[in-house]
Amino acid sequence: MKQSTPFADASDAGAAPVITIDGPSGTGKGTIAGLLAAHLGWHLLDSGALYRTLALAARRWNVDLDAGPELGRLAAQVRVRLEGERVRLNGEDVSEAIRTAEAGADASRVAVHADVRAALLGWQRDAAAAPGLVADGRDMGSRVFPDALLKIYLDASPEERAQRRYKQLKDKGMDANLRDLVQALRARDQRDRERSESPLQVPSAGIVVDSTSKSIDEVFTQVRDLAEAALDSAGL
Ligand code: DC
Repeated sequence: MKQSTPFADASDAGAAPVITIDGPSGTGKGTIAGLLAAHLGWHLLDSGALYRTLALAARRWNVDLDAGPELGRLAAQVRVRLEGERVRLNGEDVSEAIRTAEAGADASRVAVHADVRAALLGWQRDAAAAPGLVADGRDMGSRVFPDALLKIYLDASPEERAQRRYKQLKDKGMDANLRDLVQALRARDQRDRERSESPLQVPSAGIVVDSTSKSIDEVFTQVRDLAEAALDSAGL
């Protein structure tokens, strides 16, 4: 992706403490990562947004979602900018367009390709800017930031994750069907876990936090305490 720095306000990219939050879809990773970044005053990298944006670009420019090399070339050409919660593709605000269930499924498809992952790797690493970065995704701790200060793996039962996604979509006024969501979520989990390139897995030294039946506050408290302990022991 063409951008010297991933964020509008980051200039000293590449060397800063990183906390990673990985896990399957619908575990609340994005919410927890956002709360933690705000709490610490750090940058936030929603890596899923990159895959979603690339998938949207592929749909728009008629690039086959199963054509790895073409998608890799497309990833090197498009300009993506993360501005807080907003995402821009070649200057256009695509924040809403990338949040549909279809965009999530498309993202999971483009994410299996080695060319795509290679094209996005440097861009993601450049997001590690001072004073620090909270990065959420599938391979943040295992591949993109293997030396992260703290690696969280957020999990929850598939049923609860589907319920949460259902509520999220309904709250946004989007069309949703719970049975379809459970099915789509299982398919996405399977593809994300079974692909050969950077599959979803608990990273080495990762700490598993199960959010099933827990409120956002409870999960955030647990993650914040882990983060503060990790910062303390690193003398930060
Ligand atoms: O976190 P999300 O639902 O926005 O991610 C959408 C898809 O993107 C996910 O199903 C797999 C892919 N993805 C990935 O392969 N690696 C990441 N680090 C983040 C997302």
